[in-house]
Amino acid sequence: MNKAIIISNNNNGNSNRSDSAASSVDEIHIDMDQRRTLSGISRISESAHGIPVQEKLCGINDLQDGEMKEVTLSILSADNVETINYRILVIKEKDKWYALAPDCTYCNTPLVKGIISHGKVRCPLHGTSFNLKTGKLEDLPGFDSLPAFKVTLSLTDVFLSTSLTKISQTRIIDPMSKCKDSINDPVVIVGAGIAGITCAETLRHESYNGRIVIISREDHLPYNRSLLSKNLDLLEDDVIFRDKKFFELHDIELLLGHRVKTINVEDKILTMDDEKKITFKYLVISTGGINKPSTIKGADLDGVYSLRDISDHAIIQECSVKKHVTIVGSGFIASTVLYLKANVVAIIPISISPNLCFAALEVASAIGKRARSITVLGKSETPFKIFGPTFGRHIRAFIQDHTRITIRQDSLVRSFEGFDHVEHMVLKDGLCAVAQTVIIANGIHPCTSMLVGSGIQTNTMGYVIVDEQMKTNQSNVFAIGDCTEFPLTLFGGHRVSLPHAHAAQFQGKIAALSITNRINSIEYVPFIWTDLFDRHITFCGDFFTTPMANVETIVKGDIFQNTYCCYILK
Ligand SMILES: Cc1cc2nc3c(=O)[nH]c(=O)nc-3n(C[C@H](O)[C@H](O)[C@H](O)COP(=O)(O)OP(=O)(O)OC[C@H]3O[C@@H](n4cnc5c(N)ncnc54)[C@H](O)[C@@H]3O)c2cc1C
Ligand code: FES
Repeated sequence: MNKAIIISNNNNGNSNRSDSAASSVDEIHIDMDQRRTLSGISRISESAHGIPVQEKLCGINDLQDGEMKEVTLSILSADNVETINYRILVIKEKDKWYALAPDCTYCNTPLVKGIISHGKVRCPLHGTSFNLKTGKLEDLPGFDSLPAFKVTLSLTDVFLSTSLTKISQTRIIDPMSKCKDSINDPVVIVGAGIAGITCAETLRHESYNGRIVIISREDHLPYNRSLLSKNLDLLEDDVIFRDKKFFELHDIELLLGHRVKTINVEDKILTMDDEKKITFKYLVISTGGINKPSTIKGADLDGVYSLRDISDHAIIQECSVKKHVTIVGSGFIASTVLYLKANVVAIIPISISPNLCFAALEVASAIGKRARSITVLGKSETPFKIFGPTFGRHIRAFIQDHTRITIRQDSLVRSFEGFDHVEHMVLKDGLCAVAQTVIIANGIHPCTSMLVGSGIQTNTMGYVIVDEQMKTNQSNVFAIGDCTEFPLTLFGGHRVSLPHAHAAQFQGKIAALSITNRINSIEYVPFIWTDLFDRHITFCGDFFTTPMANVETIVKGDIFQNTYCCYILK
């Protein structure tokens, strides 16, 4: 037994505790005479950094070592007209006190529910971590750092010492270089997903000062694809990573609405659909995937959709209201139906993949009370087959005891029926069920057709083969994200394709570090997450190659109480 997959929820009762022991407080005294109090608010004098603010955060006995809490401060506005509330995260770890802006810079989750450990606070949802002292971003998936505030102590109390300007900030963009070289060819990044954007931003963070061009066949500003299945009410502005000004400010050129058609590696030239050409110094392929078409009879009827792009999101949003909705598939379509006004829903996973159970069960959980009935149909005996029977049984029992969802693990769809528009589906066992809107989530194909004949090596499925530095077999050509097959060096180097946001972002960062020669050693641990009912579950480890026959599962805590950690050993 030497490897473990760890599955846990993030809401256990100890989440605010670090592993350090409680001890006494370092004394740092502030000069109390310097403070002028305005209805509990302290100001000294105006400076170049804005109006200084000193405010009591809490008493020195209010937190134990390894604990944190949120404090709300009421501060008078600069023009003395109104009082504004600011939330501050106060933390005590290893005798030291820290104060940070309170929300994760990825999706604004309050960090107070996260974990403190080794000088960092880690977000409870997707694991972004920040340095307690500096607020600096230390781990993905977040993009930006947090404002960190000076803390001072009296004998009895803990004080915030900052300025009005700083306390108003919710995030800090780390320093980025500007383009100073318009003579040499650019780094061209094909694809504006999370992998491509992370690569471009990391290049600028790492002082790369050549041109950077991002090409995307979509017309939209780069956006967070993962959010599309979480909420159908989201608008484009809610999902974009950055606004137009950001790219202009940091000299990252966007060529939107252009599809790259061919690549000539020898002459370093890309050709686009409209025959436009662009030469490159370095090429980064981050073209992601497209949804696999379904082979089920009737899948070409009107009313059968799939969700990958923002345009699919808009169509599904429109076509799902007050319909009988069926979700078919194995992708992260998941929470899509959270905001559907569905009446009857069946969820039918049709292939076995790591995503299988996420899709089916996330969708089911997201549909919630909107549906009249929810049925999950699948092939395997228990959900989450990839994590072994024990965890699957726990989840199945939880679903059956705590939700209105019926699980049928033995049914598959034979066909979708209707005239022009889908009306119902026929299952392999002959059962018929109403289905007015069908969403197929059948996994992806890599988007790499433009590589045919380029000499860039792909595997039999079309995924670009890269090494641990994201280098392809062609010099100065890199590939990142959903379109790659890469080695898991920490787990014996076996090669995987991992169509998840965290891996894509990690690879974007690695490619940038390779280009700027900043790379040391890379050890990626696969990390994915799912939202089921009121539970956020994270999965961490090598969940690709665990042979099901040989796994041993240890469950600590109680899955029904939402406090558990599950180790799968092989
Ligand atoms: C609905 C949905 C929900 C998801 N939920 C989650 C989740 O909860 N957690 C998780 O970890 N992952 C989730 N994923 C997966 C995650 O979104 C992907 O792993 C991630 O987006 C991959 O990023 P990428 O940059 O590699 O590719 P993509 O995001 O697919 O971006 C590829 C880019 O390449 C462009 N492109 C493609 N071909 C060309 C070409 N020939 N010329 C020019 N441009 C081109 C595309 O327009 C696009 O801009 C979800 C995916 C979907 C679709
Ligand atoms: S909201 Fe913090 S990592 Fe997702």
